[in-house]
Amino acid sequence: MPNESLLWLLHSVHALSVSKSDWIGGHSYYSYLEEAGSYWFNAMVPNGILMNNTIINEKTQEFLDYVLDNQDSTGWLGPEVGTDRPRYLWGRYPFFFGAIQMVEYKPELTDRVVTALHKFVKLANRMLRDGEGVEDWAATRWEDFVIVLQW
Ligand SMILES: *[C@@H]1O[C@H](CO)[C@@H](O)[C@H](O)[C@H]1NC(C)=O
Repeated sequence: MPNESLLWLLHSVHALSVSKSDWIGGHSYYSYLEEAGSYWFNAMVPNGILMNNTIINEKTQEFLDYVLDNQDSTGWLGPEVGTDRPRYLWGRYPFFFGAIQMVEYKPELTDRVVTALHKFVKLANRMLRDGEGVEDWAATRWEDFVIVLQW
């Protein structure tokens, strides 16, 4: 990738305020669905790996570490942890897509990611049985969760 494109990419990343994303302890998000941070993560993991870009790889590793380290005792992970904001499952699916790709590139991450996923799946199962965690959009994107579960 030519350097100019890379600079454009980094500028875009900054413009999207991902560095301040509420997924990693900041306050930036654009909707209650909480997909901005996890969409970024899912896209940047393969970008960083394929371009062998140290900065992007460090950022995606920090993102993964922050989210896993802050998973709460119920199994929930993401920006709603420690808040009373509504919890919709959907924003987690792109996060797990990114995490899966990181595991495939760095197998030493397997235990942490799979342990976090198992905790989350138990919680999600209870929530879905109780009719929680979905609204129109989250309900539409159920296939994304199935892809995660198949992995
Ligand atoms: C990736 O970059 C590092 C230095 O940042 C280099 O040592 C390594 O050989 C590169 N790997 C590939 C596959 O190009």
